[in-house]
Amino acid sequence: MNADYLAHALTMFKAGTRRSDVMQPIAKTLSDADINALAHFFSAQNPPLAPAPAPATDLVTAGNTLAMHGGDNGVPACFSCHGENGRGNGQRFPGIAGEPDAFVVNRLHEFQVRAKADTPKPGSMTEVASKLTEEQIHAAAAFLSVTQPH
Ligand code: HEC
Repeated sequence: MNADYLAHALTMFKAGTRRSDVMQPIAKTLSDADINALAHFFSAQNPPLAPAPAPATDLVTAGNTLAMHGGDNGVPACFSCHGENGRGNGQRFPGIAGEPDAFVVNRLHEFQVRAKADTPKPGSMTEVASKLTEEQIHAAAAFLSVTQPH
């Protein structure tokens, strides 16, 4: 994960402007120097993909198309924001390649819940998620789980 993204995310948890009951209290204990050191440490790691049963090939293919080109229901290409190969892009766009299948499905469902509670900001992940079908969510998750970020 990009160092600038990690530092920005930890700073927002610390300030309380990014929501998470788990991460906010942890981030509050971190100094700016801690945040900087952690961001650099984690951005330098290159973990292998999490071991998991191979997802269905047709799901992986559909997820690849969605990531590169988007969907005909108005879903933009995932990698247009998340960077080449989903490796992340700067402070705002996290790396998503290599994330485990279930993690991606959960995160996308969380964004969908948020989209139902409040009109999503244009260009936000919440808005993107509000357009995703359940099938697209599983396709994206399958593809990302077998994609190395480089
Ligand atoms: C318009 C830009 C944009 C597009 C297109 C986009 N995303 Fe995102 N995505 C974001 C932003 C910004 C965040 C960070 C949001 C946050 O943390 O609140 C994000 C966060 C995520 C996360 C959470 C990652 C994590 O580690 O917490 C996942 C998973 C994700 N996106 C998947 C996708 C998938 C799959 C697609 C394609 C269907 C997609 N995104 C398309 C902007 C985008």
